[in-house]
Amino acid sequence: MLKVGVIGCGGIGRTHAGVYKSDPLADLRCVCDIQRDRADSAAAQFGVKAYYSVEDMLKHEELDAVSVCTAGVENGGDHYLPTMQCFEAGLHVLCEKPISNNIVHAREMVAKAKEKGVYFGINLNHRFVPPAAKAKQWVQEGKLGDLLLINMTMWIGNPNETSPWFHIRALHPHSLDIMRYFCGDVKKVHAFFNRAPRPDGPGGKRVCWSNVQVNLLFENEVVGHLTGSYDANPAHNLERCEVMGTEGRFVLDNLYEELTFYPRRSQELTVIRNSIMGGVAGFQATFNNRLHRWLEQVTNKVPREEIEASGEDGLAVQEIIEAAIQSWEGNCVVDVMR
Ligand SMILES: NC(=O)c1ccc[n+]([C@@H]2O[C@H](COP(=O)([O-])OP(=O)(O)OC[C@H]3O[C@@H](n4cnc5c(N)ncnc54)[C@H](O)[C@@H]3O)[C@@H](O)[C@H]2O)c1
Repeated sequence: MLKVGVIGCGGIGRTHAGVYKSDPLADLRCVCDIQRDRADSAAAQFGVKAYYSVEDMLKHEELDAVSVCTAGVENGGDHYLPTMQCFEAGLHVLCEKPISNNIVHAREMVAKAKEKGVYFGINLNHRFVPPAAKAKQWVQEGKLGDLLLINMTMWIGNPNETSPWFHIRALHPHSLDIMRYFCGDVKKVHAFFNRAPRPDGPGGKRVCWSNVQVNLLFENEVVGHLTGSYDANPAHNLERCEVMGTEGRFVLDNLYEELTFYPRRSQELTVIRNSIMGGVAGFQATFNNRLHRWLEQVTNKVPREEIEASGEDGLAVQEIIEAAIQSWEGNCVVDVMR
């Protein structure tokens, strides 16, 4: 059993703590938040010790791993410091997405984990569902033939106006991770953004670039497209991914609701619908599955490069995001940093 702690006790930190509490591979020892009331109430809820600083937690606890569930600017500004502190102390870290909103920090975090030889995972939880694994298996087995195209849509409603880049930096680590999961690394990016009208009054546009269309060229010559929005209703459909190859295409609809294979040379479809008997029960399951896989891989001491949804993966999607921003600002196609 891994001795774990959770840093950051907002809604998502509590979600991690709850998953650890119920996972047989984890022994939740403590929670930590610089807001004392948050740390205290989470500690009471989960029956563990509260800390109010990472330094103090590291001084008094012998942990194997932590979840970093802080937020900050663009939901990622506060991840750097506690993650680096935990790496310095030799702990494995599962960090919430985005790895960081600051690309220099993100690069340093990945480099530090490597230097210390510790595991680094990012909570890119959307890919941790059985239909995504099945679709990946189809890709690997060659059921689609040679990959040609990928289309991804992810749209929610989020009125956050704290930064122009909140939407792409905070949400699209998820969509781009799904795209990379199926099609690999991206080498070139071109993006257009727009801003919806302000929802709260007459005239003016949102501060946040709340809609985006991104064109992507992958290393394997696949061409891809991402549609993203903060002006939609996710109750209808949160995300959709379509991958096409020379022998057919699949559509993975709404994370796990339905997976369909459309063969190129036959009329017969393969449809896998989420079962009401033992299927994915809801979005919460993506956390359960992701955290369990992390615990499993750390417990089994897999080679560092085998960690699924790793720090490197979290950095790779952030590099694509920075390239998309540069593309819009510079009116050009941008090579993605690798
Ligand atoms: N994977 C997903 O599906 C998913 C969904 C939503 C949010 N998130 C991510 O989860 C993260 C947390 O979201 P939230 O809504 O719970 O945020 P939140 O702001 O409610 O909570 C973050 C907490 O971290 C604490 N904190 C900040 N710096 C700290 C430090 N150095 N040491 C200890 N505590 C510190 C804050 O005091 C705060 O209580 C964000 O990065 C967000 O992007 C992920």
